[in-house]
Amino acid sequence: MAEEERANAARVYDYMLGGAHNLGSDRDTARALLADFPWLQRIAWENRGFLARAVRFCLDQGVEQFLDLGSGAPTVGNVHEIARARRPGARIAYVDIEPVAVEHAHELLAEVDGVTATRADLRRPADVLASPGVADLLDFSRPVAVLVVAALHFVAPDDDIAAVLAAYRSVLAPGSLVVVSHGSADQDDPELAAAMDTITAVMAASETPAYSRTRRELADLFADDPGLELLPPGLVDVTAWPAPEQREPVGVYAAVARVP
Ligand SMILES: C[S@@+](CC[C@H](N)C(=O)[O-])C[C@H]1O[C@@H](n2cnc3c(N)ncnc32)[C@H](O)[C@@H]1O
Repeated sequence: MAEEERANAARVYDYMLGGAHNLGSDRDTARALLADFPWLQRIAWENRGFLARAVRFCLDQGVEQFLDLGSGAPTVGNVHEIARARRPGARIAYVDIEPVAVEHAHELLAEVDGVTATRADLRRPADVLASPGVADLLDFSRPVAVLVVAALHFVAPDDDIAAVLAAYRSVLAPGSLVVVSHGSADQDDPELAAAMDTITAVMAASETPAYSRTRRELADLFADDPGLELLPPGLVDVTAWPAPEQREPVGVYAAVARVP
């Protein structure tokens, strides 16, 4: 892949987390963002922290199968490492649209049984669910945790994310969980709202533009779907899930819902 290629969210995020799977264009975009918003690195880490807590929560609920949509390049604290530290038999299907992220995952996972990485578009649930890395690994007659963490904000407003989520939910057994985090400029703090707007503007020039959704739009994803039950504490900043810890919010909302 040529160095001059446009920056990509998976690799920009990997750089911010201190990973090695990024190109010059990704580092330039990341540095431009960090120059204006040094706390962006904190957003990445807080989101990753939420992911880890949510995976442990799923395990506590007895869910040991994970479909990680928009999983990113393998980087610090991968889902299979977190899950398997507690449940060595946990199964994880990683899915990402970005070829470099999936290539690196294949290298990392070559010897790991029960963990797959598939290149697919999460907006095409039928293709994702039929892909061998997912269909041959996960048993959908038992609970599965679907993780869509910091990935839905790359889905454009024209794509019906409610329909996308509903398509995944429709194949889930009772007791399954849906874990979401999503950046948003709809914030009480005007400074944080402005920061999230700027991040969206900078990402607009990248290969993977990001879109903000309002808090209400995100809450409605769960409220409008009778097949999902939003679990406490509801839709909150990632820093406050599952409980407030007196950390400054970072502008990324999180929620976990269960299939009743
Ligand atoms: C910010 S990273 C999040 C990585 C990981 N989920 C986390 O929260 O730590 C977003 C990922 O979503 C992926 N992505 C964006 N649009 C996608 C799509 N339509 N289908 C699959 N993956 C997508 C990007 O390639 C990127 O790896």
